[in-house]
Amino acid sequence: MEKVLKEVKGQYQTKLVIIDGVYSQDGDLSLLPEIITLCKTYETMLMLDDAHGIGVMGANGRGTAEYYNCLGQIDIITGTFSKSFGCVGGFAAASKKIIQYLKFYADSNVFSAAPTPQVTASILKALEIIKKEPQIRTKLWENTNYLRKRLKEEGFDIGKSVSPIFPIMIRDNKKVTNC
Ligand SMILES: Cc1ncc(COP(=O)(O)O)c(C=O)c1O
Repeated sequence: MEKVLKEVKGQYQTKLVIIDGVYSQDGDLSLLPEIITLCKTYETMLMLDDAHGIGVMGANGRGTAEYYNCLGQIDIITGTFSKSFGCVGGFAAASKKIIQYLKFYADSNVFSAAPTPQVTASILKALEIIKKEPQIRTKLWENTNYLRKRLKEEGFDIGKSVSPIFPIMIRDNKKVTNC
């Protein structure tokens, strides 16, 4: 990424780096603090898709940015309400200026219906539970750590996973399609 940012230095008025917080296939985390530093150095905006981080990562479930102590340093954070929220829809959190821009130019906002009152109520309830019932997150991490330990003991290759997402690495395309 640094190589590319160096190459395009001075060429564009606006640059945007887009990363995930927790990667959905391998269950590993982005190198968020290093990426924030690079974005600052090369005057690039940063967007973090934290679909798998919100509600799970960080002491208060505020996501990968909280886990890395980087809250407030990311230009746009997006997430889904379909995973830890157990609902549908998603969100984009950014400055008022960026949100105003998205309201006018994001096709997904302009051409789709607003969330229904039922959906909105269940999202708000889930948010309240994420905030007020941290024991659910504690239990999730206990289960995650237990599963990680047991999978390893049973000899499964779980790659680089450090989150509740576990890939079972077969490392042979033929074996994967034949099973
Ligand atoms: C990284 C990431 N972002 C966003 C989404 C979108 O989630 P949904 O379509 O359920 O809102 C997913 C779905 O798995 C995802 O993995």
